[in-house]
Amino acid sequence: MSEGKLNIEPEISPDVFRNFQRLCEERKAESVRKQPVLEARNVVKRYDDQTAIPDLNFVIDDIEGKSEIITILGPSGCGKSTILNMVAGLLPPTSGEFLTFGKPIEGPGVDRGMIFQRYSSFPFLTVLDNIAYPLVHVLKKPWKEAREVAKHWVDKMYLTGAEKKFPAQLSGGMQQRLAIARTLSARAPIILMDEPFGALDRKIRWEMQDLIAEIAFFQPEHEFTIMLVTHDIPEALYLGDRVWIIHQGRIIRTEFCERPSEPARQAQSRPHFLELVSFFNAQIDQLVIAQEG
Ligand SMILES: Nc1ncnc2c1ncn2[C@@H]1O[C@H](COP(=O)(O)OP(=O)(O)O)[C@@H](O)[C@H]1O
Ligand SMILES: [Mg+2]
Repeated sequence: MSEGKLNIEPEISPDVFRNFQRLCEERKAESVRKQPVLEARNVVKRYDDQTAIPDLNFVIDDIEGKSEIITILGPSGCGKSTILNMVAGLLPPTSGEFLTFGKPIEGPGVDRGMIFQRYSSFPFLTVLDNIAYPLVHVLKKPWKEAREVAKHWVDKMYLTGAEKKFPAQLSGGMQQRLAIARTLSARAPIILMDEPFGALDRKIRWEMQDLIAEIAFFQPEHEFTIMLVTHDIPEALYLGDRVWIIHQGRIIRTEFCERPSEPARQAQSRPHFLELVSFFNAQIDQLVIAQEG
């Protein structure tokens, strides 16, 4: 331990610790609206005789004038997808409830958009109509207006020129950009992403991370909250305003992280970033070892 520095946890460096504290204080000073974006109250989920989620409670505040990304890390099988699917309304809790803006979740809704690792788009519709279709059928917009909105998102998601293609004709990265465009164009305040970039290679992943940072932090079109499940620790730390570590269906750690100030590839090679990655890595390794041991 270096001189004059207090080491609170054996595996956490004083700089990392102080940064967590500072961000936590900054966060407390932000003004939040009365109704939280999302709340879990005593949520339990059992599959047959196995309890995947023993008792989940959390509140995600609606911060005035700010979008937020919550990234969710944890070993395989810890319950990340179960939590996301319940929030999406695709899976009912065994007991307890989720609320969005104070209203109980009883099924899927236009206030929540879900993006999966693959196959989130309609295979029989063109890129443009994949975006326009829900605007027409769910939000009841006329086709002409829906296609105008769709065109805006095609351009914003760097899909210009691919309007008339079908999803199967797109690369993996383009398919995910299309799925994001469809979800964002409907202006859902909650966006759920389950390992959305898990099937993409490193370079494309970085591009996708830059894009998410752009739409959430640098050029947001509306306020939204993204919950993003990922296996990739650098991705979670780069994109997350808040990072949760889940273990056996419980949120065992939540930390605030700094917003990116440079592209993913550069940011993720900085020494202070790598230090943070190794801290989270050690935390998750411990869980895996405890689980197996
Ligand atoms: N449909 C299901 N039927 C039975 N068990 C399930 C089902 N879905 C998930 N589980 C179990 O619940 C636990 C949490 O799974 P999941 O939410 O998929 O975890 P993660 O997404 O973190 O990998 C695991 O033990 C998994 O085997
Ligand atoms: Mg999963």
